[in-house]
Amino acid sequence: YKKIGIIGAMVEEIDLLHKHVQVTGSFDKAGITYVEGTLHGRPVLFCKSGVGKVNAAVCTQLMIDAGVDCVLFTGVAGAVDPSLNIGDIVVSTTCIQHDMDCTPLGFVRGQIPFQDVWEFQADPQLIELALGACERLFPGRSTRGRILSGDQFIASRETVRLLHQELNGACTEMEGAALAQVCAMNETPFVVIRAMSDKADGTAHVNFADFTVEAAVNSHRIIDDMIQHM
Ligand code: ADE
Repeated sequence: YKKIGIIGAMVEEIDLLHKHVQVTGSFDKAGITYVEGTLHGRPVLFCKSGVGKVNAAVCTQLMIDAGVDCVLFTGVAGAVDPSLNIGDIVVSTTCIQHDMDCTPLGFVRGQIPFQDVWEFQADPQLIELALGACERLFPGRSTRGRILSGDQFIASRETVRLLHQELNGACTEMEGAALAQVCAMNETPFVVIRAMSDKADGTAHVNFADFTVEAAVNSHRIIDDMIQHM
């Protein structure tokens, strides 16, 4: 990968990239600032996407147009797999939009109508790089799994149960599958890395707020380690 795209969901994480990347330039487009530079001697382009699938899609396409060869996305997520705890890390195998629902028309949940593919595969090499970084930094705290995305903050046990049973998700967040679809459309490799900030239940909002800063630091360390091992 000659040029690496990094998209963060959290301002704390972007601040850390600002500190560690040797910045060579920046530009604004559609209200988002993109910063260019090198990290451990490798060309990178990074930005904060903002929340939700539309923001993620726009900045992923823009990064690809700006010439990145792969896209790494980090942030937090709500755990859906009951075996996951707060602080655990999920590396995407595939991503699905859980809020894509045309079931009244006979499509299955998550299916994008008239499209054969709606489960987007992360790049095998990037998955291994991410898991390698996680094992070095946080042994025993990471797993690979299916990431579900939707424009909804999930805070209900019942919804979590549905997402786990119907879509076999490991965790739920609000950007990954949008980025994944844009990457698939452009044949650009990607991986999504998510630290569990909550269990998407009744206390999700509290856990989410408490965990953000720690998660940003951990995400930054994972990205940094991955780039050193590329
Ligand atoms: N990101 C972190 N926690 C989340 C949740 N419970 N639902 C959606 N996105 C999240």
